[in-house]
Amino acid sequence: MPEENPFLCVPAEFGEQVRRRLLELSLLDTDRKIESEEGRLLLPLTKEVVLSQILPEMDTSEYTIGFREFSLILSGPRTVREALENKLSETELELLPRAYDLIGDIAVLEIPPELTDHRQAIGEAFLQVRPNFTTILGKKGAITGTLRTREYDLLAGIDKTDTIHIEYGCRISVDLSKAYFSPRLLEEHNRIAQLVQENEQVIDMFTGVGPFALHIARQVRAKITAVDINPEAIKLLETSVTMNRMVGLIESVTKDIRDYTNMVELQIADRVIMNHPSGASDFIPEACQLLKTGGIMHYYDFIGGKDPESDLSTKLINLVEAAGRRVHDISLIRRVRDSAPYEYHMVIDAIIQ
Ligand SMILES: C[S@@+](CC[C@H](N)C(=O)[O-])C[C@H]1O[C@@H](n2cnc3c(N)ncnc32)[C@H](O)[C@@H]1O
Repeated sequence: MPEENPFLCVPAEFGEQVRRRLLELSLLDTDRKIESEEGRLLLPLTKEVVLSQILPEMDTSEYTIGFREFSLILSGPRTVREALENKLSETELELLPRAYDLIGDIAVLEIPPELTDHRQAIGEAFLQVRPNFTTILGKKGAITGTLRTREYDLLAGIDKTDTIHIEYGCRISVDLSKAYFSPRLLEEHNRIAQLVQENEQVIDMFTGVGPFALHIARQVRAKITAVDINPEAIKLLETSVTMNRMVGLIESVTKDIRDYTNMVELQIADRVIMNHPSGASDFIPEACQLLKTGGIMHYYDFIGGKDPESDLSTKLINLVEAAGRRVHDISLIRRVRDSAPYEYHMVIDAIIQ
């Protein structure tokens, strides 16, 4: 008679959050594989549980408990390389992606062109080794256009591009096919939120799905106006607003930041956030119109060269002067991440007179 395990069945978007909670409570049977079925995850448990006792803070109305047989993890390969050893040559195995982005329960891989024919097998191998991932996507081309989106291929798992991503407890509704989101900016989202003071007026000029705005509103009683030209991004932000406990207030605006700036009073913001590194330099006049005297600009750009810090500060000082204002002080310049070989996604925090 096969052994049956108790399991908890949850909608896939809550899977990662519940998995972590079960791990904390030592209730997840880590010897067995998590399974996915029709957009739901089946999490094997070490013993029977009462939902209201183990997850009192969650809405568990859509969660169910059952019994079934789960396969043992120990019987499968431990690494993606091991899973593909009989399918790929040694040279191909060397080319396997070593890193990936994890966005909620979706893993995003960059498959080198030499391995294109093995895309699906690589995706399946990822799922085999990390059965708690629901979907494995492959990047298709670069991030392009005003909306900064890219296309993706389904490599394995459930065919979807939407998920809930959690950063320091902040729940962010993401749809990779509709709006930009990068999990690599986690520290930056949190850093900016920690700088904001009570009652500040913040304008997030290129908010996307609103990670900066959400982190701020969760941490401080400030007013954040979150503007984006992409209506899908703003819809996702509005969904996230309903999913987080916030002390601040987010006003979401679907508009070109130029039109927004023309509509509102001058010099209303204590702080502007300009994380649109490929395009923000064109919008310094708008940022200068929006910022109060002594207001803070968080400006992001892609910078290469031998001395990117010095190049970035010179660039910003000149752009601000051309817009009729002055950089009074620079409190920080930092490389946020590598954006290309010898190029960085950089941030500069500047006080504007
Ligand atoms: C690189 S994404 C960054 C999104 C967000 N700041 C983040 O950190 O996730 C740049 C965003 O700027 C938006 N955008 C581009 N041009 C814009 C404009 N003229 N006015 C408002 N938003 C714009 C795009 O739709 C996109 O969501």
